[in-house]
Amino acid sequence: MEKPIIDILSYFFYPSKRSRQFLYHYGPAPESVNLFTFIGAGLMADHVCPPWMGYFLLNPLRRLVESPERMFGPFVRKGMTILEPGCAMGFFTLPLARMVGPTGRVIALEIQDKMLAVLARRARKAGLSDRIEVRRITADRYGLDDLTGRVDVVAAVHMVHEVRDKARFFSEMAKVLRPDGRLLVVEPRGHVSIEAFEQTMALAQAAGLRRETLPKRSGGRRACLVKNCG
Ligand SMILES: C[S@@+](CC[C@H](N)C(=O)[O-])C[C@H]1O[C@@H](n2cnc3c(N)ncnc32)[C@H](O)[C@@H]1O
Repeated sequence: MEKPIIDILSYFFYPSKRSRQFLYHYGPAPESVNLFTFIGAGLMADHVCPPWMGYFLLNPLRRLVESPERMFGPFVRKGMTILEPGCAMGFFTLPLARMVGPTGRVIALEIQDKMLAVLARRARKAGLSDRIEVRRITADRYGLDDLTGRVDVVAAVHMVHEVRDKARFFSEMAKVLRPDGRLLVVEPRGHVSIEAFEQTMALAQAAGLRRETLPKRSGGRRACLVKNCG
């Protein structure tokens, strides 16, 4: 779509300034905006992922494109401590808990109670409650002091674009990682442009996280960041 057309449509459909900013800042480049990305970017602007979407994200067919074992297998080992911010209802949490085994643990962070309630129920049913800890946080109070320097892997999937203060987010994640611990970031191609993703990566690097090269097929909205030590 041409930028002037997007401008006019945005003005009428998304009167909130934040929605319009979101479309340009986090959305795809103007030339690749289509009807779906236009609607999607506007809907996502003022909201975090709603609980009905949380159920949708649990769809087992998602494994065909985002298999937790394929995505995290190379990084997660038995006995590890994993932190999963923005876990929603736990599409990744339960598989991660199986991957770390009985001696490991997964700490799942959320800002929405409903997501955590469903996750806790699913963990109980799967017999994994003893290795999954659910924590309700607020956007400006992470409360992770007890984890300083103790986390092996942070798994942040499709959530960083929803975080308003990204610099703060990355500094909290860098603080909890062990030296050489890894932060894996995966963002949705649909509404995070390459440019927005690179800006986000710059904030991560400013927080003391070094970017590692990933295989090309990871698609440009994925990054593995390692905590700089020394
Ligand atoms: C699109 S969902 C992704 C859920 C999950 N990672 C997945 O891929 O299935 C993003 C989640 O991040 C949560 N979230 C947004 N901002 C957050 C923050 N600052 N800290 C923790 N969770 C946050 C939202 O409540 C929402 O459940």
